[in-house]
Amino acid sequence: MEPSTLLRIAIGEARVGMFVHALDGSWLDNPFWTRSFTLASKGDVARLQRSPVRSLLIDLAKGLGPSGAVAVTDEGGSRRVAVPTPIARPRLASAETRELRRAAAILHETTRELRSLFEGVSSGRGLDLAVTRDVVSDLEAAVRERPRALLTVTRLKTKDEYSYRHSVAVCALVTHFGRHLGLDASLVRNLGLAGLLHDIGKVAIPSALLGKPGKLSDDEMALMQTHPQAGYDLLRDEADLPEVVREMCLHHHERIDGRGYPAGLSGEAISMPVRILSICDVFDAVTSIRPYKDAWSSETALARMSQWHGQFDPVLLLRFFQGIGVGSTGMGVGARIDHTAQAQLVGISHV
Ligand SMILES: [Fe+2]
Repeated sequence: MEPSTLLRIAIGEARVGMFVHALDGSWLDNPFWTRSFTLASKGDVARLQRSPVRSLLIDLAKGLGPSGAVAVTDEGGSRRVAVPTPIARPRLASAETRELRRAAAILHETTRELRSLFEGVSSGRGLDLAVTRDVVSDLEAAVRERPRALLTVTRLKTKDEYSYRHSVAVCALVTHFGRHLGLDASLVRNLGLAGLLHDIGKVAIPSALLGKPGKLSDDEMALMQTHPQAGYDLLRDEADLPEVVREMCLHHHERIDGRGYPAGLSGEAISMPVRILSICDVFDAVTSIRPYKDAWSSETALARMSQWHGQFDPVLLLRFFQGIGVGSTGMGVGARIDHTAQAQLVGISHV
């Protein structure tokens, strides 16, 4: 049972001196490195208010309340008001910075390598599969060792690097998800390869169209939708690339209800690896933080993606969000989902 000194407040009420018992939402949306901590500076408050977190639980026994006083419950149950003691910065801040720096360095390096790989394919030199496998291994290790840091930095996208960073992010997400599902190591690696290569067919699309802001015309959309087949064709001669990887690239825009492309596959005709890839692909697209577009929080992605009936495998969608701890106030990977989200997801699993 939660202590009686806990109080849930809206994010706008957060202030210096409060002790945060827990943030509502996914650990992916938590801008701090620890679940419980003191808001020690205006910078901490600003950082919290810039994050997707919308509400939090504060502990009145350990920090200030909304009125500025500290309410403490004595053993006998009576309450008194205490003067707040000076606040130290959270000691884990430097560990957070170190982890994020390492993750950012991995993101920078793998993005650079992916750009070079795609340029090789674009100029007709073919795919350097050994380097591609190395990039997948690096990302697989990084997401295993520091999932939160890596999956946090991969959300940040720049306009120039968007498509490369998206591919790196999807590679990390499918690897993380595959391991959460307990899949065989070789399938996890193939998922990683497909995550990295799924949009390789976009090298055949004019860059003006790829970077075009706003809505596409019907003709432009039709051209854009050729990229899965173009990717499959580009990878067709890669004898050492498993066929399952090519198929994931070809079918990553299919939908369970048959309204996807290029083949309009439906239901059981869409393999489990393809279903996994399509969830991770869309999740990264909607939660990416870009300078010109608002990102959805992981909670919003859960709420909205759950409503897109017919697009995803509903059971796998539940497992995916469990794997990134959405719906739980816990920080751990695979943290238990809360009852509200559970009920919501059980509801859609029968659609
Ligand atoms: Fe795509």
